[in-house]
Amino acid sequence: MAMNHKKYKPYPSFEFKERTWPNNVTTKAPIWCSVDLRDGNQALPIPMGIEEKLLLYKMLIKIGFKTIEVGFPSASETEFKFLRKIVEEKLIPEDVTIQVLTQAREHLIARTFASLKGVKNAIVHIYNSTSELQRRVVFNKNKEEIKKIATEGTSLVKKFAAEAKLEGLNVILQYSPESFTGTEVDYAIEVSNAVLDVWEPSKENKAIINLPSTVEMSTPNIYADQIEWFCKNVKYREFIEISLHAHNDRGTGIAATELGLLAGADRVEGTLFGNGERTGNTDILTVALNLYSQGIDPELDFYDVEEIKEVFEKVTQLPVHPRHPYVGDLVHTAFSGSHQDAINKGLKYRAEQSVEIWEVPYLPIDPSDVGRKYEAVIRINSQSGKGGIAFVLETEYGFKLPKIMHPEFAKIIQKETDNTGAELKKEDILKIFEDNYINVNGLLELVKYKVNEDTSEEDLESVVTLEGLVKVNGENITISGKGNGPVSAFINAIELCNIGKFTVTSYDEHAREEGDKSQAITYVQIENLDTKARFFGVGISPNITSASIKAIVSAINRSK
Ligand code: KIV
Ligand code: ZN
Repeated sequence: MAMNHKKYKPYPSFEFKERTWPNNVTTKAPIWCSVDLRDGNQALPIPMGIEEKLLLYKMLIKIGFKTIEVGFPSASETEFKFLRKIVEEKLIPEDVTIQVLTQAREHLIARTFASLKGVKNAIVHIYNSTSELQRRVVFNKNKEEIKKIATEGTSLVKKFAAEAKLEGLNVILQYSPESFTGTEVDYAIEVSNAVLDVWEPSKENKAIINLPSTVEMSTPNIYADQIEWFCKNVKYREFIEISLHAHNDRGTGIAATELGLLAGADRVEGTLFGNGERTGNTDILTVALNLYSQGIDPELDFYDVEEIKEVFEKVTQLPVHPRHPYVGDLVHTAFSGSHQDAINKGLKYRAEQSVEIWEVPYLPIDPSDVGRKYEAVIRINSQSGKGGIAFVLETEYGFKLPKIMHPEFAKIIQKETDNTGAELKKEDILKIFEDNYINVNGLLELVKYKVNEDTSEEDLESVVTLEGLVKVNGENITISGKGNGPVSAFINAIELCNIGKFTVTSYDEHAREEGDKSQAITYVQIENLDTKARFFGVGISPNITSASIKAIVSAINRSK
């Protein structure tokens, strides 16, 4: 083994047997805060310019975010200008609170307040790292010295906030003991309590304590233990919001957030599609849609997810993974035959029984809730089966293939996908169907026909006479035959052509609306009475008799 696991040590255990969070159930959406414009932007190879930030900001408002961290105005001129732009152009809705991040240093706090001129409500978010590792390695400061950075920063925010109040700005303090998950929890509480003692939170003067897993270092249950412990031991609990801010280094940022909510947190910071430093931040879209799939109103609207993705990809220049939960291009798609069959049955059952609750195998949510068409649900490749192929023909083109035809057509499709190794588009499937069953030219060609129907007086049984002209190998032959319907009359009439004797072994028909016209579609299976071989054919015509006769002609041509 080239790797050496002995280089690493386990995360320290956190003894908390009194934990109650595993028994809790989430029943409502948390307070959401998007940090796309700050944390997300900070992590981009090419950070957003003002135009991109504006596009994303408008999108976040459209989704329904009521708290948006718009940037780090003291650290970047672009972020300062962006904030000024949305203030001066009055782009902050009444019900939206903007949040700005700053380090707890005087000149940066002063610059932050300068960027807020004209804003009514703002969250001023200060942070300093409290982690054991950073105290030792980065700052070379002891616990008291680190705590002092936080309390002095809070005093400054308090001072600037009091001045700004006179100009109509209401400030909510947010403090983050940065690298909370690398900090002893008791010490994180000690620093946070000291900050709160300075701020003096009350009903009118709220504060937020944000507990970041700046680096995700443990399993999500440990984060939840820490959050519950923190909620139970922090001062002023009724006047503060506890906020989660999980990164995703272990790939469990979403799980950590969900367990953190069970553990008593009120608020979630995160980004769309989990964009953010390294492996990213908590993906708010997934957390919200996880709630939605449990019947809980997420209070965010992701119906227009295609547009959201488009804007996201444009401004971040990062692609959304095709397997991204709920919204990736492939996540509502089944290629596998048995899955397609189950989905097909689930959707049919739902339509027939008119049930309200969503229960369709393999589809945790209704794809149409996130603006997806059912077309994307079943796609055809070499793994697909007959149910899926029939589903595409029916939902896309209105052909309701009789079950008896499914295996044969599936084989034709399978041969094609095996040959190309590629996915077939719906248009390809239609063309293969038409070429194989409808537009089948061959030995027999129908030129014209007429039918005459007589009913007997006793039982109204009808006798149909069919007379017509066909070509066999290009040669005109006049035909005539009788039967109890046009199909049997035609079958009898073509005996005159000497191309074999046939009987109809299956017959199905239905109407198909196409624009304002209605078409009849007929599916027949005929048997050659000498060889016993059976062949399908399909006919389409506005006239049902013509559709049936065309289907027989097609089946005969396929038999030759
Ligand atoms: O991840 C983090 O710790 C942060 C802080 C600034 C809250 O983004
Ligand atoms: Zn972060």
